[in-house]
Amino acid sequence: MKTLKINRRKFLRGATSTALGMISFPHIIPSSALGKAGNVEPSNRINMGFIGVGGMGTNNMRAFLAQRDVQVVAVCDVVKASDEYGHWYKRGWQGAWFGRESARKIVEDHYEQKKQAGQYKDCAAYIDFRDLLARNDIDAVCITTPDHWHAIPVIMAASTGKHIYCEKPLSLTVAEGRAMAEAVHRHGVIFQTGTQRRSSEQFRFVCELIRNGRIGRLKRAVATIGSNNKEAPPRDWQPMPVPEWLDYEMWLGPAPWAPYHKDRCLYTFRFGLDYSGGQTTNLGAHAIDIVQWANGTDDTGPVEVKDLGGEFPVDGLFTTATKVHFSARYANGLELICKTQDGGPLRLEGTEGWIQIQNDKPTYYPESLKTSVIGPNEIQLYQSKDHHHNFIDCIKANRETAAPVEIGHRSVTICHLGNIAMTLKRKLEWDPEKECFINSEQANRMLSRSMRSPWRL
Ligand SMILES: NC(=O)c1ccc[n+]([C@@H]2O[C@H](COP(=O)([O-])OP(=O)(O)OC[C@H]3O[C@@H](n4cnc5c(N)ncnc54)[C@H](O)[C@@H]3O)[C@@H](O)[C@H]2O)c1
Repeated sequence: MKTLKINRRKFLRGATSTALGMISFPHIIPSSALGKAGNVEPSNRINMGFIGVGGMGTNNMRAFLAQRDVQVVAVCDVVKASDEYGHWYKRGWQGAWFGRESARKIVEDHYEQKKQAGQYKDCAAYIDFRDLLARNDIDAVCITTPDHWHAIPVIMAASTGKHIYCEKPLSLTVAEGRAMAEAVHRHGVIFQTGTQRRSSEQFRFVCELIRNGRIGRLKRAVATIGSNNKEAPPRDWQPMPVPEWLDYEMWLGPAPWAPYHKDRCLYTFRFGLDYSGGQTTNLGAHAIDIVQWANGTDDTGPVEVKDLGGEFPVDGLFTTATKVHFSARYANGLELICKTQDGGPLRLEGTEGWIQIQNDKPTYYPESLKTSVIGPNEIQLYQSKDHHHNFIDCIKANRETAAPVEIGHRSVTICHLGNIAMTLKRKLEWDPEKECFINSEQANRMLSRSMRSPWRL
């Protein structure tokens, strides 16, 4: 059993060290290898570990558990088990406890029958992700930690040859994103960013229409994002005792030390600039990613970014923008506006029409675009129907995923640029090739951050 696994891992690694896209293997699993009960030969399964099993991490884990050719063998979280997540996921789920022991139980329950039949050993639960990454039998990891904890695990996972599914927003800073992309390319691992709209047929159709000129030249994009959906604690908030179920030092990790408060950590980390770029990156990473796709600028970015009146809190525990409003201009003339507007659409305007997407439903002008057909000689964009399965398919076929690291990095870079322009309250010129500002050293210093010892990139 062990030999089989090592051989398979060697094969997968060998395959991925070849330049991406140069070769395309047929799937390793022929359908004949699938057992009658949907079982997959152990040698053809992808063993996965999950780093960060809070709200979205548990969601991701359930999605991968449902894949027949995946076996979940380990989970990791600095939370043992807690229901103190201020999560919207709570609504739909029974129990709604998250953390490593809750995740382990979900996995063990899922494999109960296999375990009894001797086909599954157990699911390990780690506090320190380095222990999970040290395991040789794990082929791929899913990283769903807060944003300040994406870069280091991604770079370490890549260096151990593990394929990586990492949540959006990819990075906390532009420098982190570039370092992640370099590590992924250097080690030749398969990478998927958790921007699941890249696997939506609807968004692909919209982008194909635009890329094929159906609304003329794309001239203006308005990406609206929701406001902060949690109220900040009172300004005179007081530190709280660290709960026994949380390794708080490890939760903070590379972020500056700060006293514990429950609203600093689980779910609400997205309103603290030490851990996140706020809704600008949290929601902007989804919306702006579609603008990049529609504009055909996946591997580059705008040349200018301008504050249009973004606002940040003056003090308090929550520090991310309370009002997002900035614009970015591309070399091809496209103007992107990103602004806070609850329930607002993503609007893509061309010289001869427009497409607007609200609550995942597109409306078209002219209406005839709805039934327009993309011809065989026109631009066809990457096709994926299931973001999680696309990752597994791509590991096996050694091909690029729907949302590889460069795409994830370039999309969130625009969000970071917006935050920087809104902070400095000015217009900044950006060089997308060199990934630096042309007219502000102050802004350039904001492209990276120092990390708390002993952590570093
Ligand atoms: N793709 C999407 O639509 C989508 C939706 C929601 C969240 N997300 C992303 O998922 C990520 C997590 O968000 P969330 O809402 O699930 O937050 P969360 O707070 O519910 O979960 C994060 C988990 O990571 C754990 N964690 C923190 N540091 C860790 C470490 N060093 N090692 C292991 N675990 C650690 C936390 O304890 C927590 O359980 C964010 O980057 C967020 O943007 C993506």
